Amino acid sequence: MAFNKRVKIKTILEQNPIGQEITLMGWVRTKRSNKNVSFIALNDGSVITNYQVVADPNLIAEDILKKCTTGACLKITGTVVESQGAGQSSELNAKTIEVLGEADPEKYPLQPKKHSLEFLREIAHLRMRTNTFSAVFRVRHALAFAVHKYFNDKGFFYIHTPIITASDAEGAGETFKVTTLDISKPPRTPEGEVDFRQDFFEREANLTVSGQLEGELAAMALSEIYTFGPTFRAENSNTTRHLAEFWMIEPEMAFYDAEDNADLAEDFLKYLISYALEHCQEDLKFLQSRLEEEEKSKPADQRSEMGLLDKLRFVVDNEFVRITYTEAIDILRNSNPNKKKKFQYLIESWGADLQSEHERYLVEKHFKKPVILTDYPKEIKSFYMRQNEDGKTVAAMDILFPGIGEIIGGSQREERLDLLLKRMEELHIPIEEMWWFLDTRRFGSTPHAGFGLGFERMVQFVTGMGNIRDVIAFPRTPGNAEF
Ligand code: 4AD
Ligand code: MG
Repeated sequence: MAFNKRVKIKTILEQNPIGQEITLMGWVRTKRSNKNVSFIALNDGSVITNYQVVADPNLIAEDILKKCTTGACLKITGTVVESQGAGQSSELNAKTIEVLGEADPEKYPLQPKKHSLEFLREIAHLRMRTNTFSAVFRVRHALAFAVHKYFNDKGFFYIHTPIITASDAEGAGETFKVTTLDISKPPRTPEGEVDFRQDFFEREANLTVSGQLEGELAAMALSEIYTFGPTFRAENSNTTRHLAEFWMIEPEMAFYDAEDNADLAEDFLKYLISYALEHCQEDLKFLQSRLEEEEKSKPADQRSEMGLLDKLRFVVDNEFVRITYTEAIDILRNSNPNKKKKFQYLIESWGADLQSEHERYLVEKHFKKPVILTDYPKEIKSFYMRQNEDGKTVAAMDILFPGIGEIIGGSQREERLDLLLKRMEELHIPIEEMWWFLDTRRFGSTPHAGFGLGFERMVQFVTGMGNIRDVIAFPRTPGNAEF
């Protein structure tokens, strides 16, 4: 078989090896035939472009050609020749075709017509064979690679934080339990509670909601680290921005204050977008036209003012707006949708939590730019954030993006043991269980900061996909764990 001698379509397009005999492997997208010749559009996922294979019925047996239907997998050997038709500089004149895997055209669910994204979600095991999803996953790969490149080039170290933990870093109680106990008849304590001392870890355990706390431990030794791993949240949010399983990038830096943190976050986001613009031109152009098509069905006032590529360049080329929560509340309180009671949650007073409608108003209507919001009321943020002098706010930072809302959440951390302990007591956080976290404040504590970037929200922004379920291969959401 010599599979390893196959040439990728990407390579052929780059090298244009006219006159050479090569072997291609891939899946049939379409086949057109007349009496004299068949044209097969083959795709192997290496690039968005299909490669045209020309099959002469005098050379290729009829029963083989019959099996070259949409979805079938082929191995084709032939000669690369100058293309007769427009659009592509070369094509393959087939000498032999081997059908590696047939696809019964009566049963194959993906037809060369437009399928809705909703339908494709139901056949997520096949949807990567479409232009849209192959483009999304190539861009997703490029962004993941760029994350590692960015931090590696800056001397940050990649830490693999645990997926199973005994803590709830965000304190929101949205964890998935991890247990080997028989849930139909768990062992009980004399008081009647479930006896987790008899469980696998001899205590309650859950899937992590964030690698931050362990990331902080590493930053207190290696100075600058990042994590990039799956995180899990059992929040019952059926939105286009929430997943129960999502990937998060969490840098954590010793000797950084809130401003250093914001500077790094802005630079990082711009780097990722620039990387995609540089390395994913064709896929992004395709996704831009897909988005334009999609937006035609929307009322004019809901269409984006810029195309996808212009929007990405705009974010790279412009400084993000930096304002405090208090300034944002003033803007929102005096905004038209608030006065006209158009917001679902009206902003009445300082202290209100910001909903996504407010975040999007600030970014899309008021500033028309990414916004870094800082210094939130301590009541609506996590225990670990550094308390400001005013006694009311903490050194939090959220970054809001057009079309997305919150893409990054972070803060400077409370490095002062007494203040941290006091805050944990107020919030009833189990202090004894967090002894290891508190030890960093006992031994060699220092100002430090970090943030978390929701990777899928970033992929959404760069690809222009409206639903977060369409930028992760196999989405997990309430009621959904198929595939
Ligand atoms: O704001 P969050 O909850 O912050 C943290 O977890 C901190 N420990 C991060 C840190 O400082 N190291 O989450 C960070 C980001 C959000 O801004 C959002 O982009 C994303 O993670 N995110 C989600 N993405 C998809 N589905 C969900 N359910 C998400 N929840 C948060
Ligand atoms: Mg947040």
